[in-house]
Amino acid sequence: MVGFRIEGYVIVSADGMLANADHVMPDALKFEGDKRFFTAALDRADLIVHGRNSGENQPNAPKRKRLILTRGVPSLARDASNPNAVLWNPDGAPFEEACRFAGVASGTVAIIGGPVVFDMFMDRYDAFWLSQAPLVRLPGGEGCFPGVPERTPQQILEAHGLKAGEPQMLEAEDGVTVTPWRREAA
Ligand SMILES: NC(=O)c1ccc[n+]([C@@H]2O[C@H](COP(=O)([O-])OP(=O)(O)OC[C@H]3O[C@@H](n4cnc5c(N)ncnc54)[C@H](OP(=O)(O)O)[C@@H]3O)[C@@H](O)[C@H]2O)c1
Repeated sequence: MVGFRIEGYVIVSADGMLANADHVMPDALKFEGDKRFFTAALDRADLIVHGRNSGENQPNAPKRKRLILTRGVPSLARDASNPNAVLWNPDGAPFEEACRFAGVASGTVAIIGGPVVFDMFMDRYDAFWLSQAPLVRLPGGEGCFPGVPERTPQQILEAHGLKAGEPQMLEAEDGVTVTPWRREAA
């Protein structure tokens, strides 16, 4: 996408879940190494985009510009509770207009969930950073993308033109890694 670099971030269980059956991200999916990686990425981003239940809940969160998806507004509105946040209904305004409304004309945009929000950008990611916790299973949980667990997150990223790079270890004790999935040059 011209003017913006789009990057996605998620941590998933071995079975591809980003939350448990109650739609809550359990402590079992929270790791210090992944938190450090995610925090550094968000501190570098120019804009963060997420659904109403997927805010990052970190000390630096109030400083970061963000678009919060909700059908509670017709198109775009300032968030009365946060001067750095814009409420966005994609049915009423395209992404570029939402970015302009948030005061961001270019730079890196971090997409941080949930599943429907990840899916909206699936053909636009320059990179998707897939963190995995191989010792955690969340049967009956919420798949990280629509179509998980019928397909794996990796199969879905690949089907959208992304290719896996070298995994980096984030937390050796639990085998938690992050793999960059990058779009191949056309
Ligand atoms: N493991 C991870 O890395 C990770 C990453 C992200 C999220 N999570 C967790 O996963 C769970 C995700 O929660 P969730 O399924 O409720 O997803 P969510 O995307 O955070 O929230 C869904 C809400 O976002 C709004 N929304 C989503 N798509 C929209 C669209 N196309 N147009 C307008 N509004 C839209 C709607 O808000 P309204 O109801 O206001 O209309 C909808 O109810 C949370 O527990 C979160 O903590 C985990």
